[in-house]
Amino acid sequence: MCGIIGYVGKNNALNVIIDGLERLEYRGYDSAGIAYLNSDGLLDIKKEKGKIKNLKETLDFDIKSSLGIGHTRWATHGEPNFVNSHPHKVGKITIVHNGIIENYMELKQELLKSGYSFKSNTDTEVACALLDKIYNETNSIEHTISIFRKKARGAYALGIIVDDDYNHLYAVKKDSPLIIALGDKENYIASDVPAILKYTNKYITIEDDEFAKISSDKVLVYDNNADLKKFEVKTFAGNSNDVMKNGYDHYMLKEIYEQPEVIKKTTLPIIEKDLDSLVNNMPDFSKYKKIDIVACGSAYHAGLVGKNLIEEYANVPVNVDIASEYRYKKLFIDKDTLVIVVSQSGETADTLAALNIAKTHGCDVMGIINVVESSIARKSDIVMYTKAGAEIAVATTKAYSCQIALLSLIALNIAYKNKEIDKSKALEVLKSIRCLPTNMQSVLNEFDEYKKIANKIYNNDKIFYIGRDIDYALSMEGSLKLKEISYINSQCYAAGELKHGTISLIDEGTPVIALVTNEKMAEKTISNIKEVKARGAYVILVTTDNINTDGDYYDEKIVVPCTNKFVQPILTVIPLQMLSYEIARLRGCDIDKPKNLAKSVTVE
Ligand code: M6R
Repeated sequence: MCGIIGYVGKNNALNVIIDGLERLEYRGYDSAGIAYLNSDGLLDIKKEKGKIKNLKETLDFDIKSSLGIGHTRWATHGEPNFVNSHPHKVGKITIVHNGIIENYMELKQELLKSGYSFKSNTDTEVACALLDKIYNETNSIEHTISIFRKKARGAYALGIIVDDDYNHLYAVKKDSPLIIALGDKENYIASDVPAILKYTNKYITIEDDEFAKISSDKVLVYDNNADLKKFEVKTFAGNSNDVMKNGYDHYMLKEIYEQPEVIKKTTLPIIEKDLDSLVNNMPDFSKYKKIDIVACGSAYHAGLVGKNLIEEYANVPVNVDIASEYRYKKLFIDKDTLVIVVSQSGETADTLAALNIAKTHGCDVMGIINVVESSIARKSDIVMYTKAGAEIAVATTKAYSCQIALLSLIALNIAYKNKEIDKSKALEVLKSIRCLPTNMQSVLNEFDEYKKIANKIYNNDKIFYIGRDIDYALSMEGSLKLKEISYINSQCYAAGELKHGTISLIDEGTPVIALVTNEKMAEKTISNIKEVKARGAYVILVTTDNINTDGDYYDEKIVVPCTNKFVQPILTVIPLQMLSYEIARLRGCDIDKPKNLAKSVTVE
């Protein structure tokens, strides 16, 4: 969603901020803006609707600016236009803001009574006016921030400049990510590591009850009483290469190809010494009688795969919920329930809210998270990290496969410890995990074949996905991947459910991507495929090399190596990802930044 970068230091703030904003583009945005110190020592604000290049055209990069804050805005309150874009300036205060101030209407009424007027529809301008009012009353920005925190409700990350002091930036956050990065005679604030990774990998995280005062050579962190606090300087493990396209046309394709490597990184440390490690390197799940998995989008789909495996092999009941529903429904959970929240970004607002609610029921919460130090990671009681590295494309691929890998290991761990499966079966699964990267590579090598299929179907305005059992969960992900990047109206159905209504949507030539990887269900699914074929569907069968597919019920066939059910989805999803990618490319879509979408959804 929105992105923040701030800079104070020896180099030109304009270059650093614009470069940082471009690196944050992947988060999704519809306007961009910057506030910077100009050559007369005054603050200039420039903002433009649309792409960052529109903003760049308004700037003179030859000036020397030592301080500034920039923002990419994904509209929530008020349409994407000039007045609603950030930065906002009221009186002596200029801010950029990620998140939502929930009580902004109430605050606005109070501020109107105090004589403030507003140009925009945003909660951000209200936050800015509130800061200005308190600052005028206290004349201390430190106290202003402390008081602001007590008055403003909601989630926010703010970068602040005060007119009386152009040597400092201020950073404050609550339930929304913001880091302070440290350079040599220059320091940064950023909502996301990729924005600053080109310059430094040293950073500080501030907690929700802290704020920071940042100059070119000093960072001070304060607690909520405006008392100074010690902080730890951390080192980000990656480098700027991790956030480059490295010769690929799109991040999404690069990330698809990275999957064998990141699956290795995610799984091998857990199973390095076979079953002993599987037991000792994972949390103890034995005390839980049931599991709730809560997530959004693709992470929810990974949860559905996890449910299938945990229930089938570990014999533990699993409920999977979409986080935005979970947070408002009646829950049947207590200390005997483990709540697993799954999130690539670790910042998804609904998932974070679900986590908080689960905690109020006395449950242990485990996060399956990709971004280290993210809000959800920090609030979870237990964290298992997917080691997918920075994922830039809005459509998740490698983080999704790693989520499945961890959920499979959880299923295997519980199944083995509860003696639901014997040692030889467990060892067989470990072997198939070790073989995964090689098998994945062989599937990736077939991209040219998937391209030929994409070429035959990319012009359709609807494409269906069907499957049963674990293939149904996987089909849901295939369908989401396609619709989010190609804008084709795609639907996914449990294959046996089509005849209860949806089959009426099948016309002559309608593409149906049918997954059949589970031998036990193959015969049943193939019957369902014959039903759509009889209605004119153009069937693309995605299957494994052990399944007998004799018959004339499909038009195209993609075969992936058969492996253990625990890891089969990680292989089978690859052609689905590549088909979606190629279809979107043929349709000329903005693959890495699909319209209306954001990489991390930090609003409800
Ligand atoms: O960062 P999260 O994993 O919590 O994000 C959840 C969803 O927003 C995300 O998976 C979304 O559905 C992706 N764009 C799908 O590719």
